Amino acid sequence: MSTPQTAIIPDTITAAIYIEANVLDKEQTKAACCQALAALDDCRSRFPGHELGMTIAFGADFWHSLGHANEGREIRPFVPLGNGLCPTTQCDLMIHIQSRHFGLNYLLAEQVNAAFGSSIRIENETHGFRMPEERGLDGFVDGTENPHGEEKIAAVATIAQDRPDAGGSYIVLQKYLHDLKKWGGISVAEQEQAVGRSKADNIEFARADRLPDSHLGRTNIKENGVGLKIVRRSLPFGYISGEHGLQFIAYCATLHNIDEQLKFMFGDKDGKIDLLLKHMSTAVRSAYYYAPSVERLADL
Ligand code: HEM
Repeated sequence: MSTPQTAIIPDTITAAIYIEANVLDKEQTKAACCQALAALDDCRSRFPGHELGMTIAFGADFWHSLGHANEGREIRPFVPLGNGLCPTTQCDLMIHIQSRHFGLNYLLAEQVNAAFGSSIRIENETHGFRMPEERGLDGFVDGTENPHGEEKIAAVATIAQDRPDAGGSYIVLQKYLHDLKKWGGISVAEQEQAVGRSKADNIEFARADRLPDSHLGRTNIKENGVGLKIVRRSLPFGYISGEHGLQFIAYCATLHNIDEQLKFMFGDKDGKIDLLLKHMSTAVRSAYYYAPSVERLADL
């Protein structure tokens, strides 16, 4: 049995820290992964009941340099989409820490950072928080159609147990800045058309009433009759007086599902661009990572 990393399955968390880094010293980085897992175990036993979890994942170049050729075979560097509308900011390493306690995330992140020390250079760090009613900063409930229940989540988000990379997961990490003034400049009816759901009571629009370039029109997609599912663990982030938006992260057993949804959103499939991008959001960071199982991570 291979165990998925611990920030993938739990879905009742309220805060997260997302870190991306480039690797300067490979051997030290490998050793630091074990130390980071030990720090996680220590924090979980000292402060139980907060669903503290952590994922450590790798960009394609770094993962391939480790030589586990049969594992995480789909991983590749993120390439820009939508004629530059979605740039790539691919890094070697991603650390995702989440729980129901922001301070506990910070405590663990401090220890993890100390473990990696000078073996990495941090390129980006974002702190996410859950808003009341699980709404985004745009006012819409986010996460409703996420798979629920441990078994379902594991089936969508992690590689099946009969595979050499069992328990592994593919990840997209994207930072979206929201222009809330612009968003507030269109009517609620237009916002609802852009999303494909109602705002106050969060009711999904019937397929026939949905605009093809609404967010649901772009992401609720089927291939040969089968829905392309992903597990989102995104949270709002930012400052009242500064940059704010959505720190998007999704986990999946196959990179394909994530990649298809992004191509639909950024116009690389049929030229139609997600209305959320037109009315509110700009992607400023995007990268793909592969998270091996806990056992593989401990034994790099
Ligand atoms: C600006 C960034 C984004 C915002 C504000 C946003 C917001 C939302 C909202 C409000 C919903 C409806 C409620 C729900 O089911 O969660 C939703 C659904 C969804 N989003 Fe996003 N999202 C963003 C980016 C993305 C990206 C980049 C992807 C894929 C890579 C994605 C995939 C999905 C999926 C799969 C659903 C469920 C569709 C369904 O089956 O009904 N979203 N999103």
